[in-house]
Amino acid sequence: MEMASKTDSENGSLTLVKQGAEARVFESVFVGKRSIVKERFSKKYRHPSLDSKLTLKRLNAEARSMTKARRLGVSTPVLFAVDPLLHTLTFEYVEGPSVKDVFLEFGLTGVVQERLDDIATQIGDAIGKLHDGGLVHGDLTTSNMLIRNGTSQLVLIDFGLSFTSTLPEDKAVDLYVLERALISMHSSCGNVMDLILAAYKKSSKQWSSTFNKLAQVRQRGRKRTMVG
Ligand SMILES: Nc1ncnc2c1ncn2[C@@H]1O[C@H](COP(=O)(O)OP(=O)(O)O)[C@@H](O)[C@H]1O
Ligand SMILES: [Mg+2]
Repeated sequence: MEMASKTDSENGSLTLVKQGAEARVFESVFVGKRSIVKERFSKKYRHPSLDSKLTLKRLNAEARSMTKARRLGVSTPVLFAVDPLLHTLTFEYVEGPSVKDVFLEFGLTGVVQERLDDIATQIGDAIGKLHDGGLVHGDLTTSNMLIRNGTSQLVLIDFGLSFTSTLPEDKAVDLYVLERALISMHSSCGNVMDLILAAYKKSSKQWSSTFNKLAQVRQRGRKRTMVG
């Protein structure tokens, strides 16, 4: 790991948090602060210099989307640094569990309905703000949402698949991805998607066209399931 050794000497140790198909995520220290380093890497089968350009483009797109989300009033980690040579983004480390962990523990370790309602409301509110600002997250799963310790504030992460769009269809698909994730992984949380949609409705001025599309997207999903 070329990058690990270089950054090691400057910032202290790097601990691998997640190895993905297109990015590696490390925990590290940046100017004395606990941080997350996300390294995008190239697919080896592409042309090397073209590849590097694409990787850089996506790295910059992720940084820009995060900044835009923040401008729209959605909490995201503070971006500490962008390194175009190492293809890394360095973020503030958000202390606290993922929404996935909280939802999976619902009913088990003192996670009460009130906490679930609060998180669902924050999720719907945040997505409404993104969508009204023309930003589609692109990967709304409960792993990409953190709850900051102390304040219980929702923090959205992982803007690697985000894009700009004002189309109701794109927004509906964004919500549908989340709905499917909740149904498959968090069935014990009951009507949590209804709570999210209720908060979305309050937050987004364009909720009506998005909900109409969402109904169509669900219909398509059902047909696809029946066909196999
Ligand atoms: N700012 C952060 N603070 C704390 N944990 C983070 C932060 N960013 C990412 N993580 C952790 O690393 C994981 C992977 O990061 P993510 O940006 O979602 O990359 P990927 O595209 O590989 O899913 C997250 O699910 C989360 O557990
Ligand atoms: Mg992720």
